[in-house]
Amino acid sequence: MAEQRLTRYSTQKRVLVTGGAGFIGSHLCARLLGQGHQVLCVDNFFTGTRNNIGSLLGNPNFELLRHDVTFPLYVEVDEIYNLACPASPVHYQFDPVQTTKTSVMGAINMLGLAKRLRIPILQASTSEVYGDPAVHPQTEAYWGNVNPIGPRSCYDEGKRCAETLFFDYRRQHDVAIKIVRIFNTYGPHMHPNDGRVVSNFIVQALRGEDITIYGEGKQTRSFCYVDDLVAGMMAMMATSPDFTGPVNLGNPGEFTMLELASLVLELTGSSSKLQFMPLPQDDPKQRKPDILLAKAELD
Ligand SMILES: NC(=O)c1ccc[n+]([C@@H]2O[C@H](COP(=O)([O-])OP(=O)(O)OC[C@H]3O[C@@H](n4cnc5c(N)ncnc54)[C@H](O)[C@@H]3O)[C@@H](O)[C@H]2O)c1
Repeated sequence: MAEQRLTRYSTQKRVLVTGGAGFIGSHLCARLLGQGHQVLCVDNFFTGTRNNIGSLLGNPNFELLRHDVTFPLYVEVDEIYNLACPASPVHYQFDPVQTTKTSVMGAINMLGLAKRLRIPILQASTSEVYGDPAVHPQTEAYWGNVNPIGPRSCYDEGKRCAETLFFDYRRQHDVAIKIVRIFNTYGPHMHPNDGRVVSNFIVQALRGEDITIYGEGKQTRSFCYVDDLVAGMMAMMATSPDFTGPVNLGNPGEFTMLELASLVLELTGSSSKLQFMPLPQDDPKQRKPDILLAKAELD
C-alpha cells in the first residue's frame, strides 16, 4: 500500500489546463484529477462556467485561477494543455478581435511558459484549419482551404497561426509541442445556446421549436463523444517527444444534418418541424477526419 502511494506520488504531475472551465476542458480536468494529478484550471469565464467544474472545486488537487491568456502567466507546472478559445461561431464571432488575440497571444504566452519551464505543451487545434475542404476525408497532410478575410477567419486563421507558432517554438527553441486537430465533439457541459448543431437540435426538439437546418441539410459532419476525445488528448500528451502531430482527433462516422435531425426527433419523441434557412457564409459542405495517424500513434 505504502509502495503504491509512493509510486503514485512520484508520477503525480501539476497540469495547467487553459480553458479548463469550458466544455472539453472541464472533462479533461476531471480525468486528470481522476488519475491523481494536480490541476491548475485557468479560465476567463467568457464561455466557460463555474457549474462545469462545480464538482471539482472541493478537490484539494484542483486549483482555479481567473485569468485571460492574452496576458502572460507565471506559474510552476509540469505540462500544459492549451484549450482557451471560444469554439462556436456565435461566441467566436461576438468579439472577433479578442478571438484572434486569444488564439495567437494565448499561444505565445503559453509557449513562452513552456519554454521557460522546459515542459510539454499540447494545443487544442481544430478541423477548421482545413476550412471548406477540397479533400475528403481530411488527412493531416492537407493544407486546407480557408478564407482569410471572412467572418469565420478570426477563429480559423487564429488557430492556423497558433499552429505556426507551436512549430516555430519547436524549431527555434526546442519546445516539446503536441498538436491535436479536434473535429466536432459533443457531450455534457455543451453550452445550450452556442448554436452547435448537436446541442441546437436537441434543445430545439425538447422545447418543441422548429429545428433549424441550413441549406438543404445535405452537408455532413462527424461527431465524437467528449470522453473519447479527452482520452485521445491524454494519449497524445503521453507520446514520445519526437511526435508533435498535428493529429486529427474525431469520429470518422459521417451524418448529414437531415439524418442527425431525424435521429434527434426519434430519440426525443418531439413533434418539432424542420425549418430550412440559407447556408451561412463559408459553411463547410463536408467534414470528416481521417484518423489513421491517431490509430497508429495513439492506439
Ligand atoms: N468542441 C468542439 O467540437 C471543438 C472542435 C474543435 C476544436 N475545439 C477546441 O477545443 C477547445 C475547447 O473548446 P470547447 O468546445 O470546450 O469550447 P468552450 O467555449 O466550452 O471552452 C473554451 C474555454 O476557454 C475559455 N476562454 C476563452 N477565451 C479565453 C481567454 N482569453 N483566456 C482564458 N480563457 C478563455 C472560455 O471561458 C471557455 O471556458 C477550444 O480551443 C476549441 O477551439 C473544440
